[in-house]
Amino acid sequence: MSETQLVVSGIAKPDAYRSLKEQFDAVCEGIDDPIALMSTMACILHYGFGHLWTGFYRRSGPTKLVVGPYQGTLGCMEIEFGRGVCGTAAANKKTVIVPDVRLFPGHIACDARSLSEIVVPVFDHHGDVMAVLDIDSDATDTFDDEDKRQLEQWVARFAQPPKRG
Ligand code: SME
Repeated sequence: MSETQLVVSGIAKPDAYRSLKEQFDAVCEGIDDPIALMSTMACILHYGFGHLWTGFYRRSGPTKLVVGPYQGTLGCMEIEFGRGVCGTAAANKKTVIVPDVRLFPGHIACDARSLSEIVVPVFDHHGDVMAVLDIDSDATDTFDDEDKRQLEQWVARFAQPPKRG
């Protein structure tokens, strides 16, 4: 397999996501392993858009998230459900878009350059939260409903029942 890392900055979001998703689907065809999928998703999205931080926090126990595969500067290790943007998305099972992190009470600043962020809950095939996808930008107002819609489709991959055999 020979794959070039796609860069989509400057391209309209629907087209950008479509191109990256085609690459993701091709690279991950037949792959069930969640760590392999999370690592590859983080890599393709991160370098595709040139974000500041792109990665996953995985559920560890009933109400804790622990850092998972990511691209970017050092992420904090553990986040309780209900804390920060990630913990809020996990607890409420809903995507959170933060146009300006300075205005989000309880925002956890892992990198002071982060100014806006989106966190998307990741559900397993039982409908339980198994992780969150967190993307941080060094500009305000980076993420909107289009990102929400697209990224929710990306993480729907984790809700597929594992293949047998
Ligand atoms: N800002 C997140 C914490 C994770 S880091 O940004 C990588 C939050 O408030 O949950």
